[in-house]
Formats: sequence, C-alpha cells, structure tokens
Amino acid sequence: MKKANHDLEADVDYILIDEKRLQSRIRQLAQQIEADYADVDDLLLICVLKGGFVFLSDLSRAIKRPHELDFMGVSSYGSGTESSGAVQIIMDLKQPITGRHVLIVEDIIDSGRTLNYMRSNLLARSPASLRICTLLNKPARREVDVPVDYIGFDIPDEFVVGYGLDFAEIYRNLPYIAVLKPAVFAHLFEQD
Ligand code: IMP
Ligand code: MG
Repeated sequence: MKKANHDLEADVDYILIDEKRLQSRIRQLAQQIEADYADVDDLLLICVLKGGFVFLSDLSRAIKRPHELDFMGVSSYGSGTESSGAVQIIMDLKQPITGRHVLIVEDIIDSGRTLNYMRSNLLARSPASLRICTLLNKPARREVDVPVDYIGFDIPDEFVVGYGLDFAEIYRNLPYIAVLKPAVFAHLFEQD
C-alpha cells in the first residue's frame, strides 16, 4: 500500500470538497479571524499535528496580520478509522502560553475527545483567551461537547482523507477532501 508507485487518486471514491471551495472558505475564515482579533497584538495559532499542517499553512498565509505559530502533536487514533478515546500529547509547545491569545487550528472534529482534552490542557496554562478553529466538523459523531468558534465545513458521517487528513498515515498530500473506495479499507484490514 505504501509502495512509491501507488496511485493515490485511484483509491478515491469521490471528492467531497475540491481545492477551489477549500481556498475560498479559508479566505472567509481568515477575514473573520482578522476582524475578531483586530485589537489583539499577540495572536498565537497552535496547529494540531499531524492532520492540521496543511490547513494551518493556508490559513496562516490568508491572515494578513502578524501572528505567531506553534505546534502540538496529539495522538488519538491507531491506524484504523475509529477513535481509541485515549488522547496523548506526543509533542508539546515550545513556549508558555500564559497571557497569550491562542487559537487552536485543527483538521477535523469527530467525537470531540481530542479537542476537549487539548482545550482543558491549554486552559490550565492560563492563556488570555482560547478559541478553536476547525476546517471540518462531523456533528453527527459528537460525543463530547466542545465550544468551536470557527468551522470551515460541516460534513456527513464519512471517513475523509486529503488536505492533511490521513488513513493509515497516507493520503495526507491529496490537495482536496475525499472519500476512499470501500475496497481500500477492506484491503488494509486483510493485510493486517
Ligand atoms: P476526535 O477526537 O474523535 O474528535 O477525533 C479527532 C481526530 O481524529 C482528528 O484530529 C483526526 O486526526 C482524526 N479523524 C477524525 N475523523 C477523521 C476522518 O474522517 N479522517 C481522518 N482523520 C479523522
Ligand atoms: Mg489528527
């Protein structure tokens, strides 16, 4: 499956959100963030790795005001498509966030467990403010209620890949949000 010549696009069943829709929605989110933080001098975007890296890269460049970036590595999934429920910090921030205005940038909210954990972990460090921005939201799957301030797209209960999101650590480099063919999942579980 990870062979260098594997055709990733051939595994795509259909494209849920194409590049054009992604970019135009990200421009809108950036404008909203610029307006909401117009009086804030020390905005810090915290990217949730790994899935958030593509969204952060486009969102940061669409925000035309100064801001800083930091990264946090969080793991909540194995190589399957269901959350394990247990959230683990595998890479922490490089700096304290006490008194800072923090915006968490996440790829997707599914059960809400990951962001709920991150939110209380970061709130314990006494930031001046803490908000959440997610590119994708699956409302039908929510188990834990988390306040989300910025949502790119509400999507149906489908496992999606691309634009930073993976299945079994691949497909992150697809430039759009896509749903994989059912055979792809069956194939992986056969081999495991
Ligand atoms: P939650 O803790 O259940 O909200 O899951 C959040 C994390 O699960 C995200 O940061 C993703 O890494 C992963 N995840 C949830 N749904 C999907 C999906 O449809 N595709 C890929 N990753 C997903
Ligand atoms: Mg993730």
